[in-house]
Amino acid sequence: MNEPQRLIKTARAAGERSYSPYSRFRVGAALIAEDGTEYTGCNVENAAYGSSICAEANAITTAAAHGVRKIDTLAVVCLDGEGCTPCGNCRQLMREFGVDTVILTDEHGNPVEYGLADLLPHSFGPDSLPER
Ligand code: THU
Repeated sequence: MNEPQRLIKTARAAGERSYSPYSRFRVGAALIAEDGTEYTGCNVENAAYGSSICAEANAITTAAAHGVRKIDTLAVVCLDGEGCTPCGNCRQLMREFGVDTVILTDEHGNPVEYGLADLLPHSFGPDSLPER
């Protein structure tokens, strides 16, 4: 099993822990921080729908809470339906923490790698603000 396949497998295991009673759409994410540490997340929904958290946001904010400031790679797997790509809010979260590579899956569940700039072109990020 190669590295992208392994990270997809880790993301899938995280997705098994999804709390998604409203959409019944389970999502898992797994990331590798700059120092090689890995963090995972799943989507966690809420009866107040807008308070729900995406799997990617869960993984990224968990990593940030552990002191991570640079993420190299992030894999996302949707366990139900025809696959998915990250929402706009999660793409922006990835931008903040310097994600270089996003691993999604094709219709067969095989890893497909994207650069973040492919998913979020002409982005606004930390270096877009003036020095403070
Ligand atoms: N969701 C994610 O967690 N990540 C994605 O990339 C797409 C959507 C979640 C949000 C919500 O809990 C459910 O999937 C349906 O939108």
